[in-house]
Amino acid sequence: VNSTFSFAANLFPLSSTTGGGYAPLGAPTATRGHGNGGLGGGSLEKHKTLTYLNGLSLIVGLIIGSGIFSSPSQVNANAGSPGAAIIVWVVAGILAWTGAASYAELGGAIPLNGGPQVYLSKIFGELAGFLFTWVAVLVLKPGSAAIISIIMGEYLVRTFIGAEAETINPWISKSVALVGLFLVTFLNSVSTKLGTRMNDMLMFLKFVALLGVTIIGIVVAATGFSFSGAANLDWKKHDWFEGTKMDASAFAVALYAGLWAFDGWDNTNYVVGEFRNPGRDLPRVIHTAMPLVILSYILANVAYFFVLPLDTINSTNTVAVIFGSKVFGPVGALILALIVSASCFGALNASTFTSSRLVYVAGKEGYIPELFGRIGSGTAVDQHESLTTTRTRSWFTKKLIRIVADEDTGLFYTPIPALMLNCTLTAAYVCVGEFGTLVTFYGVAGYTFYFVTVLGLIVLRVKEPNLERPYKTWITTPIIFCCVSLFLLSRAVFAQPLQTLLVVAFVVVGVPVYYWRRYVNGRSAVKREVGGMREVREGRPWWKFWQRR
Ligand code: ARG
Repeated sequence: VNSTFSFAANLFPLSSTTGGGYAPLGAPTATRGHGNGGLGGGSLEKHKTLTYLNGLSLIVGLIIGSGIFSSPSQVNANAGSPGAAIIVWVVAGILAWTGAASYAELGGAIPLNGGPQVYLSKIFGELAGFLFTWVAVLVLKPGSAAIISIIMGEYLVRTFIGAEAETINPWISKSVALVGLFLVTFLNSVSTKLGTRMNDMLMFLKFVALLGVTIIGIVVAATGFSFSGAANLDWKKHDWFEGTKMDASAFAVALYAGLWAFDGWDNTNYVVGEFRNPGRDLPRVIHTAMPLVILSYILANVAYFFVLPLDTINSTNTVAVIFGSKVFGPVGALILALIVSASCFGALNASTFTSSRLVYVAGKEGYIPELFGRIGSGTAVDQHESLTTTRTRSWFTKKLIRIVADEDTGLFYTPIPALMLNCTLTAAYVCVGEFGTLVTFYGVAGYTFYFVTVLGLIVLRVKEPNLERPYKTWITTPIIFCCVSLFLLSRAVFAQPLQTLLVVAFVVVGVPVYYWRRYVNGRSAVKREVGGMREVREGRPWWKFWQRR
């Protein structure tokens, strides 16, 4: 019985992730009710709209966010020298690439929406899948959103006070971050369409920014021209490895910061079910996107080194503004600060969209309280039809809907409770954390599950050698990934014990919660053939507990 699959099937009911407009919630998705499909086969024929190019823009747009404009300080400070920092970037990029390639194999073998939750449930049992969702809802999604908001806040504050100003009071930028977060949450509560249109434009901006930084760097290196008046790093004479720290834990922290900038490589796996030809296109997307991103990041970093003094890079989260101000003065600083905060805003918006769907589905499936699986002000999803067809709307509302919402859904037809939960958790992380610590915290939690999932790939090869795999990586790929991420995770214990402990605590608490949720969902139930936890809810009332199966 594929009882685990319906969770995944409900995840991210998007029909088009790139065309500027997500499918309305509750719309029939291709993968719903996939319980009888089984591995490799299935009923995914409808709504398979994503092509190679869609996938490429989706993943590149997701990966390039705040990281390349903010991580360099933490990478540099912990690597100790420009040469070592570049090595960290290369290692992080390749690690992300091997991970993405492994995920591509899993995505082809198990072509369902939902990503790790599905793979883990299939390979290690439902508890593993539950724990992933649990940690994703509580840590990964709000954690990453918090990092992006914080960077957005810092860059926005820089647009007002300029690049050169001394350190800013963190609470000022945190307040700005919170305002941005609330705004994004509000937009997502009003309409599913509002923000997504914007993202394509923002992606273009990001590329322009990165390309601009790179070109300027090359020009500086070639001509030796100094924008700042100070001596630049002379790339022919300078010893690139001077000052390298020979400390594995510092290296791990640097790596986490680099990995943050590459993070998001797993995201095409969440919408695998919507690719026209996942077996062919998913690996093609990965093997174009990753080298592209790696190359552009390395070039951007080299450009930072050429234009900025090392200790300036080491001590700022907003390296791009400083870059802009050194090259073009205050106007350049302003422009770069605006571009990067817009880029973060877009990333935050996309992240909020997907996170709320994850929370929503977790609620619907009974993984977390049912409240979070509701739409709008408590309407059941199944009433979608009647709600949207019979509700009478004023002229004004109709106009508004035309502008901001899907024609057939209407305003506020969004997973508001899920959005609220996500926003609350994110705000909490923004308040207690700061960029450096959050990045490691997120990295430890994220790489725990990346590691287990890729390990699952190896297990699956052994357990089901004959499973149809349209794409197969070399077996070395997952092995390399597992070894390096294991190293990373083991170092985290020494480098950042507190964050590591916190992650472990979250996972451990998830185990009793799993059994509790199973009890809650199962106590009044007759188990149906298909479905996750919540499918079992119908049947006997809870007080007839003795009739439980
Ligand atoms: N790499 C992105 C950045 O630099 C972060 C991606 C966050 N991860 C995610 N799954 N949304 O900002």
